Amino acid sequence: MKKWIKRIVLGFLGLLLIYALGRFIDVYRGSFYTGNRAPYLMMPAPNAMTLRWQTRQKGQGQIRYGRSLAQLDNSLSETSVAEAHELRLQGLEPGRRYYYQIINKLESGATQTLYSGKTYWFMTSPKTGQAVSVRFAVLGDPGQPGKVQNQVRDALMTWLQENPRPDRGRAYLDLLLTTGDNAYRSGTNKQFQTGFFSPYASILKNVPLWPAYGNHDARRWAFFDIFSLPSKAESGGLASGTEHYYSFDYANAHFIMLDSSASSMAVGSKMLNWLQQDLMASKQKWIIAAFHHPPYSHGSHDSDNRHDSGGRMLDMRKNVLPILEAGGADLVLSGHSHMYERSWLMHCNYGDSSTLQADMLLDKTRGLTQPYKKPGRDGFSGTVYTVIGSSSKHDQGRLDHPAMAVSLAESGSVLVDIANSLMTVRFITKHGQVADQFSIQKTPATGHAMPCAAFN
Ligand SMILES: [Fe+2]
Repeated sequence: MKKWIKRIVLGFLGLLLIYALGRFIDVYRGSFYTGNRAPYLMMPAPNAMTLRWQTRQKGQGQIRYGRSLAQLDNSLSETSVAEAHELRLQGLEPGRRYYYQIINKLESGATQTLYSGKTYWFMTSPKTGQAVSVRFAVLGDPGQPGKVQNQVRDALMTWLQENPRPDRGRAYLDLLLTTGDNAYRSGTNKQFQTGFFSPYASILKNVPLWPAYGNHDARRWAFFDIFSLPSKAESGGLASGTEHYYSFDYANAHFIMLDSSASSMAVGSKMLNWLQQDLMASKQKWIIAAFHHPPYSHGSHDSDNRHDSGGRMLDMRKNVLPILEAGGADLVLSGHSHMYERSWLMHCNYGDSSTLQADMLLDKTRGLTQPYKKPGRDGFSGTVYTVIGSSSKHDQGRLDHPAMAVSLAESGSVLVDIANSLMTVRFITKHGQVADQFSIQKTPATGHAMPCAAFN
């Protein structure tokens, strides 16, 4: 090889090495974020709530709490000093508002009041099965800090303020769900601070969070350190024995959070066996599932391409959807594709988009003026699939998946309202417009299961 070519190749390799080393150091250091993190709420239950926060200085955390701001007459303290703090308040009353104050006792003996005042409150979950109204928001792929993320958040908050729920005394939101990729680019602890905790701090101090596990979250180990998730059915449902996937109950709805990023989705795998048993055990009126990889999408990811995302969209569609549909799932939320796509009320489409048959669509309207009618918890009576992956950015895609009633290259969030037997879902854009809205009305169960074998 000529000398000058050799020099160029060596120079290029040297630059590559420096870049790789720089990135490694950046990501490694980011894995150990040491700074303040405002309080966030996890694993709500009718009688319990977990509060977490982080402090720059080590200390022993204490929470004072009570039903009114003037009477924070209960308190719970940690038993040792730390920077990452976690306390689970127990023995609370269902469906009640509690105010809280967070105190840090430093090793020097000094005491700091970190968070206090009328904006620090949470609400416990209603009694399981109770038909009170439920309002929850869904952010998809929310972890890219910047203008779009702020616009989407502010548009959602403004819409909530202008359209308050009718029952007074309730929180402006009961729950906040995500569909994964909570912190770009590598899911480090530091990126979780800049991409997730800082921008959403004002919501997270009041509204319990349920984050799905995305492929970017799975690049590092921070996710399971940062979040407290129920492996022992701490918030209802059937214990899964792992934080990767689990279920929980809120009022008359049953929520299932699956791990499409790292857990096996093979037939007979642990997650799928648990899912089947969980669905059989639940008697709740509504079934809502959330996870990262969409079973149907022609967005920035293509669910027809078996190589896209390591075949995880294909596995989800082929192996997981039949179980969800047999168990009567009403609404399935996913992300990963950075757009908004929403299906018709449908069932039994487990192949690629070319295998979709007209009869798999159970209602040929968009559910805009008349709600979709759906009998009770009957299996295969129709599910709506929503891809919401554009809460901090949106990309381009074909947006022509035939399962979709609506496909938009638009940033926004999803808001879901449940009023006993009626569920209403809205897509709120970063400009505050409702760009899609549909409802599902539960009718009495018929007990007739429509087997998908008819389509084979
Ligand atoms: Fe993703």
